[in-house]
Amino acid sequence: MKAVFITGGTTGIGMELAKLYLLRGWKVGLCGRDPIKFQESFLTDREHVSFYPVDVSDRTALKAAIADFSRVIGLDLLIANAGIGYKFKTKVPDFDWSYKMVHVNLLGVMYAFEAALDVMIPSGKGQLVAISSIAGYNGLPGVSAYSATKAAVLKYCESLHLDLRKFNIAVTTICPGFVETPLTATNTHSMPFLVPAPRAALLIARAIEKKKMVYAFPFFFASIVRFLSILPRTWYRAFMGLRAVNYSKE
Ligand SMILES: NC(=O)c1ccc[n+]([C@@H]2O[C@H](COP(=O)([O-])OP(=O)(O)OC[C@H]3O[C@@H](n4cnc5c(N)ncnc54)[C@H](OP(=O)(O)O)[C@@H]3O)[C@@H](O)[C@H]2O)c1
Repeated sequence: MKAVFITGGTTGIGMELAKLYLLRGWKVGLCGRDPIKFQESFLTDREHVSFYPVDVSDRTALKAAIADFSRVIGLDLLIANAGIGYKFKTKVPDFDWSYKMVHVNLLGVMYAFEAALDVMIPSGKGQLVAISSIAGYNGLPGVSAYSATKAAVLKYCESLHLDLRKFNIAVTTICPGFVETPLTATNTHSMPFLVPAPRAALLIARAIEKKKMVYAFPFFFASIVRFLSILPRTWYRAFMGLRAVNYSKE
């Protein structure tokens, strides 16, 4: 039986991925800070799920959780999914929240990968996945630290994809557009091409199976964002000046 550990697997994308892998017969390990969320999301199915009440910004605790799961169950796949967004979008950054975002969205991915590689490199196989965002392709207005952490994760994984091939370890970065989860539930701006979370999990699992280097979705929205990322920055600035696309004006 295969085994996957998912950080932030108690709600949203992580929870849907966990349920999908359970349906496929995998053993699943999850972490999240709030055990109540786990209990509410996994009323049944608990037999094959191990929950660790761990904050991903706690390197020692996350390492211990992943080591324990690997020792007892195994580890074929690690999905670094836990992430936080903004409660408010402002022109002047909330620096306390920005630093928190670096700890969770960026260091949380590194800590999870570090713990997984302790197991995967000696065993000569495995797959690492990080949930970045299409917000990582361009510096988006109003979400500076979010864009920065997601861009960092994207490039970090791009390097690791090349480095870890020699250890037979695949690295995949997932860049979702807007997905319907508790994270986006409080957004007051429009969310074009919003994808339901179960559909997002299906698309993500398919990309993981194909061991893609990077997978951005939904296709049309991701194509626009990728196109914007290759534009001269003066053109990008002009585009983001349009009222319809600049959320930071709120
Ligand atoms: N939803 C979207 O539109 C969208 C788009 C692009 C990328 N993403 C990315 O996808 C990932 C999942 O997002 P989501 O929309 O599914 O969010 P979500 O529903 O808010 O779920 C986030 C999960 O992460 C956990 N978590 C948050 N901070 C944590 C921490 N410090 N330590 C451990 N667990 C933590 C949460 O549980 P606790 O609160 O109990 O810890 C929860 O299980 C994030 O990385 C997000 O940036 C989302």
